[in-house]
Amino acid sequence: MCQNFITMHLYNRHRRLRKNESIRSLIRENSLTPNDFILPIFLAEGQGVKEEITSMPGIYRQSLDNTIKEVKEIWDLGIKAVNIYCKVSDNLKDNTGKESWNPNGLMQNTIKAIKDAVPEMIVMPDVALDPYSVYGHDGIIKNGEVINDETVDALVKMTLSHAEAGADFVAPSDMMDGRIGAMRMALEENGFHNVGIMTYAAKYASSFYGPFRSALDSAPVDGENIPQDKKTYQMDYHNSEEALREAIADVEEGADILMVKPGMAYLDIVKLVKDNLQVPVSVYQVSGEYAMIKAAVEKGWLDNDKVILESLTAFKRAGADLISTYFAKEAARLLNK
Ligand code: PBG
Repeated sequence: MCQNFITMHLYNRHRRLRKNESIRSLIRENSLTPNDFILPIFLAEGQGVKEEITSMPGIYRQSLDNTIKEVKEIWDLGIKAVNIYCKVSDNLKDNTGKESWNPNGLMQNTIKAIKDAVPEMIVMPDVALDPYSVYGHDGIIKNGEVINDETVDALVKMTLSHAEAGADFVAPSDMMDGRIGAMRMALEENGFHNVGIMTYAAKYASSFYGPFRSALDSAPVDGENIPQDKKTYQMDYHNSEEALREAIADVEEGADILMVKPGMAYLDIVKLVKDNLQVPVSVYQVSGEYAMIKAAVEKGWLDNDKVILESLTAFKRAGADLISTYFAKEAARLLNK
């Protein structure tokens, strides 16, 4: 009698809905598909180049020929979007970033080549000056400061060159003020009504970008009068209301998709933005997050496949519609099984 007392009065048994995989899948609230993914890709000059990024096992800097092969491969896996980043050689870097709007630059040629090879692939080139900057900053430097408005002028030129090359969306990751409005206006005035903007609306000054900066050789350089971090433009990670102000401003200026970055440590920000603004939200699971998981997997401390799917599903649960992730290919393979 005594032994049954508690169970007899227990009407709510949450475990009924977890009894087996069938019921678990029937009541599931969120799901992950390859349609959710954007794959970030790293471009290098040359032919036949495929260099693994040391801190990102399985991720490569590739020349255009190899990139096109990969883009065809990921299309067949169901991935429908790529973010493009270019490694720019030192002799093309300066303080104006002018290589970034060269109509025959690596970025512009890559956009064209991907659209020729897989026309339906959504091509989202990164818009920011850091890979083109001798100082490794996302803007032009004057008197020790990253100056906003001249940088925005440069970003607008870069945006138009991407649109001319055939980009579907531009993805500004620079965090200058007013750049979305300036880009939108320039796109409209030049007839690019259908080119969208996926803005890095809430991008934090984060230490999780380390592997990316070594992949592109784009870290801020040492030097007198050169800011040693990006804290005057990227956000302070102590704040969340500020993310909402950034996101609202970008929507008002004409952004189509809002991105939050980094990902796993910023799920509260994803939820905040999604709950307050009825627009598509994307999240970027950045290089350091990829590196952490892969390092633990290499040590045998985490299960690769399970951790990938769990971390990506958490983004969906937080409210993300799209996920930019270096795991896109691996995850798509797992989901297609
Ligand atoms: C630069 C840029 C960065 C990333 C995307 N665009 C680095 C930075 O802001 O320093 C990071 C992406 C990653 O870590 O995967 N505009």
